[in-house]
Amino acid sequence: MNARPVGIHDISFATTHYVLDHVVLAQQHGVDADKFHFGLGQDAMSIAAADEDIVTMAAAAAAPIIERHGVEHLRTVLLATESGIDQAKSAGLYLHSLLGLPTAARVVELKQACYGATAALQFAMALITVDPSQRVLVIATDIAKYELGTAAEPTQGAAAVAMLVTADPAILRLEPVSGVYAKDIMDFWRPNYRTAAVVDGKSSVLAYLEAIEGAWQDYRDRGGRKLTEFTQFCYHQPFTKMAYKAHRHLLDSQGFTPDPQTVEAAVSDSTGYNRTIGNSYTASLYLGLAAALDGHADLSGRPIALVSYGSGCVAEFFGGTVVDGYRDQLRTAANGNAITRRKPIDYDRYRALHEAELPSDGRRHVLPEETSGPFRLAAISEHKRIYETRTEHIELTEIN
Ligand code: COA
Repeated sequence: MNARPVGIHDISFATTHYVLDHVVLAQQHGVDADKFHFGLGQDAMSIAAADEDIVTMAAAAAAPIIERHGVEHLRTVLLATESGIDQAKSAGLYLHSLLGLPTAARVVELKQACYGATAALQFAMALITVDPSQRVLVIATDIAKYELGTAAEPTQGAAAVAMLVTADPAILRLEPVSGVYAKDIMDFWRPNYRTAAVVDGKSSVLAYLEAIEGAWQDYRDRGGRKLTEFTQFCYHQPFTKMAYKAHRHLLDSQGFTPDPQTVEAAVSDSTGYNRTIGNSYTASLYLGLAAALDGHADLSGRPIALVSYGSGCVAEFFGGTVVDGYRDQLRTAANGNAITRRKPIDYDRYRALHEAELPSDGRRHVLPEETSGPFRLAAISEHKRIYETRTEHIELTEIN
């Protein structure tokens, strides 16, 4: 008897209230904006307001999924992040009260740089394969932060992607064959006492290429598809040009000539959201998937590749087949709105937000009300984060 297919039944994302245009940042850096637009493939980056964090974004991403599917059979919430807000409590537990999730549930936070959500997806598949009646909510949520004035600064960004993983999925059937690669390296890391990551940018690009080639070899050794079978490739995108570099490298390593048209057709749709949102670490690959699904190409019945990389490092290559009728499940209009409704800010405002630190004295601090979305971080008191829900906005998100 064949096992029931398992995969992504629904996918939704949220980003921040503010956006910084890369023309503004290029002026500040004294470089030609083309360096960011074409050299990195980035137009802008999402910037979190004072009353936003990974929890408010995660809740905003997951709320439309809960609205549509309810919480029945949802027994596991896996939240992946590398910009965690607590060393002990899982950020997913805040969602529990914000979204009214069931008490009969396991909730856990996963970390391995930008790779964490892929581990969550694989764990979700395993749980559902054992018991196909269960559903798993997987959430990737991150705010990418580097030091001001560094080469990495234009590759910041922020977003959350929520995915409902089920048996007999309506969007993407994930395939059980997967290739993995791990190596202990120091290309990007963030010690507990820092809010901004430390990165050896150039070596991280090379490490990424080596790791995805290793994951691909493992995938093939385990009987995976041929490279030519995939219609599109969704890569982790610290900046969108990286997807192009990665695909060229993969083709080249397998003896193909990576001509520009082939590479463009394979990756360009997946870069649409990341170009303007920036790096969202764990969410980046899945924003790429959302963009590919929302793109013009009809992917019904087509195999697509998912290529995950997290510095430090772990990579995974796996595939899925897009389900016929998938477009009926997508949130293309809401996704477009999440991007267009962001408020542009000038450099001074961006810098102030970048330099701001949450108070750590344990007293009550009320945060300025800057956002208008469904969830906000209202205050910090006795070292606790106090969140607020604006219920009328959840309905608005669903209408959009
Ligand atoms: N017009 C068009 N392109 C331009 C340009 C211009 N005026 N000026 C420079 N460029 C191009 C460069 O040729 C280069 O292209 P290439 O990568 O195809 O060679 C690209 O812009 C980047 O410029 P470069 O000076 O080589 O690098 P950088 O100092 O800007 O640093 C990163 C780039 C990625 C290393 C840096 O942004 C970083 O550290 N990012 C964070 C880490 C990261 O994202 N790692 C990825 C793996 S996880």
